[in-house]
Amino acid sequence: MTRPSGPDRRGGTRPPRRPDTAPPPAVDQARAAALELLSAVRTDGAYANLALPRILAARGLSGRDAGLATDLAYGSCRAMGLIDGIIAECSDRPLEDLDGAVLDALRLGTYQLLRTRIPAHAAVSTTVDLVRSGPRPGAAGFANAILRKVGQRSEDQWVAVLAPPVDVDPVGHWAVATAHPRWISQAFADALAPRSDELAAALQADDVRPRVHLVARPGRITRDELVAAAGGTAAAYSPYGVYLDEGDPGRIAAVADGRAAVQDEGSQLVAVALANAPLEGTDRRWLDLAAGPGGKAGLLGALVAGRDGTLDAVEPAPHRADLVRKTVRGLPVTVRTADGRDPGFEPGTFDRVLLDAPCTGLGALRRRPEARWRRSPSAVAGLVSLQGELLASALRLVRVGGVVGYVTCSPHLAETEGVLRRLGDDVTVLDARAMLPGVPDLGDGPTVQLWPHRHGTDAMFLALIRRDA
Ligand SMILES: C[S@@+](CC[C@H](N)C(=O)[O-])C[C@H]1O[C@@H](n2cnc3c(N)ncnc32)[C@H](O)[C@@H]1O
Repeated sequence: MTRPSGPDRRGGTRPPRRPDTAPPPAVDQARAAALELLSAVRTDGAYANLALPRILAARGLSGRDAGLATDLAYGSCRAMGLIDGIIAECSDRPLEDLDGAVLDALRLGTYQLLRTRIPAHAAVSTTVDLVRSGPRPGAAGFANAILRKVGQRSEDQWVAVLAPPVDVDPVGHWAVATAHPRWISQAFADALAPRSDELAAALQADDVRPRVHLVARPGRITRDELVAAAGGTAAAYSPYGVYLDEGDPGRIAAVADGRAAVQDEGSQLVAVALANAPLEGTDRRWLDLAAGPGGKAGLLGALVAGRDGTLDAVEPAPHRADLVRKTVRGLPVTVRTADGRDPGFEPGTFDRVLLDAPCTGLGALRRRPEARWRRSPSAVAGLVSLQGELLASALRLVRVGGVVGYVTCSPHLAETEGVLRRLGDDVTVLDARAMLPGVPDLGDGPTVQLWPHRHGTDAMFLALIRRDA
């Protein structure tokens, strides 16, 4: 006997059939845009920060509608693990059995109920409308029932239901309470130790949208001139940094013509620290061993130009190597498309080498709303092994007495101190704190770990390693 086809009222995956009566409701464009983004993230692996501007433009959304769509889309992406845990608690079916489009709508609705000031009735009814106008209109009642259960508790009350007590399992508690996977909460806790009281603040900082930082490229424009031209304020720590409070940096003439660029202050600081590390003898040939897309190569290129030197930049991905070429135009920088493990230079060629290694990127989660759920701990081992090989190459290519700056945009100890543990006794790890004057809270040294919640920068790690023999 064949079952009649038709929509599964509980959001399941049976073939859809729209009811013959009632036309689909008109849905509001901001929520429809946010839903489209969640679908793109789920089905295409889209990067939210790249996909959303395209979606907004295609729907002609701007101003308040664009602002609402952005908040709903990014907020739902960031909180997804917590939201899914709550939906699972309210549903008598596993999330895997729910239709993806229905689940995305429920995520949006749950986010609105728990993390916005949108009235509960509006959060529920607009979500039900989204479901009714989507591929599973028959699941509207199911969505309504789930959201009514979700709305019976506040976020804090849900956390109390789902998270282990903070005194028993602080890592697990803050993972749930700040909507992070446990392995990331653990990685932050390990890197912060012994200051475990900062774990919540460090995780919460990933939900704060970063300010735009500009770098005034030395020799091309001063920081004061950039402040005068672009507005904003001088950065707290980087001698070349400017904080931009509002406006589109692309519209700033100095950015458009390459005298300045958008660059996180932490990235500026690690590049400047390498450039200022003490060195005896020549100081004319610098190397950036993992350069794409070229942010630090742009700053190092401007700095080495002031010393009548040159920078070589290595990047294996052709499209990223092209981005470096674009970024360093007009600077004494030569870009080579090659693998940093064997880029083809003579050993001992360079006075200073930057290795800004490929890494998990756990230090920049605030820039990518969905990233915390997409990164996997299984990637760490492979990255650590690549980082070790690249560091060995950097130490081969630097001359005796020269300095390698080992940098990651991750505080994960395996990628930072763990990689350094393999260094031989023919090198000295210099005190990098001395190269960052005025920057507070840099720990016991000799390496440096920056943090968004402490410094307002990405969580960059820096070790300055001198080759002694
Ligand atoms: C963290 S990013 C560098 C960011 C860059 N320094 C900047 O400031 O714009 C790491 C780069 O390493 C590159 N990479 C990956 N594998 C590599 C390898 N075997 N050798 C050199 N670079 C590699 C990646 O393509 C990526 O562009």
